[in-house]
Amino acid sequence: MKKIAYISLVIITIVLIVLQFVPSELPQNTPAQLQDKSQVQNANDEVMAILKTSCYDCHSNQTNYRWYSYVAPVSWQIAKDVKKGREALNFSEWDSYSKRKLVRKLADIKEQVNKGDMPMKIYCLIHPGTRLDEAKKMVIASWVDQETKKIMGQ
Ligand code: HEC
Repeated sequence: MKKIAYISLVIITIVLIVLQFVPSELPQNTPAQLQDKSQVQNANDEVMAILKTSCYDCHSNQTNYRWYSYVAPVSWQIAKDVKKGREALNFSEWDSYSKRKLVRKLADIKEQVNKGDMPMKIYCLIHPGTRLDEAKKMVIASWVDQETKKIMGQ
């Protein structure tokens, strides 16, 4: 039995090492000057702090990759989440969204946050302090309402 356990361990180790040679293609970051607060229209410091802490890793071009982000197979999942996340909503590209798109994205944000679907649960487990409590959800909701009104009124 001991021998089988030992051989299994050796095989698992070899597989994990080999996996490291498969590229994960983590989406690239763009230079940090784009992280300007004016990017997210009229978001005050409180809103920006929440978005940066809880959303920017997947919804901006400034993902804070940690050491394990580079370790396969975790890296493959992270690459997929960041790629899909940026496609769905990218605060670094907020400036280039049309009014219609902004209104739609704002409504999506409020809905996802209220339902507790975002940030992703697995992410909150690994990153303490990113989960949104009721107070933070309310900050986001009222920013969404104000912003939507402003855009519609323009
Ligand atoms: C760990 C990565 C991750 C984090 C953190 C995260 N998201 Fe997401 N988010 C995703 C992914 C991936 C999708 C795309 C889901 C899909 O396509 O099935 C998504 C989708 C969305 C969508 C849907 C957009 C659409 O067009 O349908 C909204 C809105 C959203 N996220 C808002 C947020 C907000 C707000 C936060 C922060 C409070 C946040 N997310 C944090 C990964 C993340």
